[in-house]
Amino acid sequence: TRDKMPPVPGDVLIHAEGAKSGQPVTAADLSEKLTRAWPQGKDKEGNPLVRNGDPNNILAVYKFPPGQLVAPTNLESTIDGQIVAYSDICTHAGCSVSDDDQKAGQMKCPCHSGQYDPKQGCKVVGGPPPRALAQLPLKMDADKIVVGDYFLTMPYPFLHEEEWEARK
Ligand code: FES
Repeated sequence: TRDKMPPVPGDVLIHAEGAKSGQPVTAADLSEKLTRAWPQGKDKEGNPLVRNGDPNNILAVYKFPPGQLVAPTNLESTIDGQIVAYSDICTHAGCSVSDDDQKAGQMKCPCHSGQYDPKQGCKVVGGPPPRALAQLPLKMDADKIVVGDYFLTMPYPFLHEEEWEARK
């Protein structure tokens, strides 16, 4: 069903946890600390449909000061070169990646200490993950943050590339 679908263009990002859980994510909500979000689409009747039927759809969203997001981040897929989103699912074995408590603005996987740099396209900077976390293109729609396109690379560790292409 659609609520298990990975994010599709036009989905609205909504908070996945905390006091604002279920509310749209705004630029003012974001910082260099990880904000977790779900993509929210619409059902056939046009009612909001949160795509949390698959826990792998959880997203990591950040806002960095101007100039800090650099290659290999796809800057055209960010908002103003400052707001960026990635799959929050570790490419090693599928755990949800967290902030690195030791390094501000970095991510660390709680399962086997995989490390990613969200300012550099979430490339792997330590541990066993085989590849970067997938970047999800974003754009603004009024004050809401919406999905601009499909994931730029395959987001989940358990899919084959062909299966992923078929799910789009
Ligand atoms: Fe993340 Fe193993 S699942 S490092």
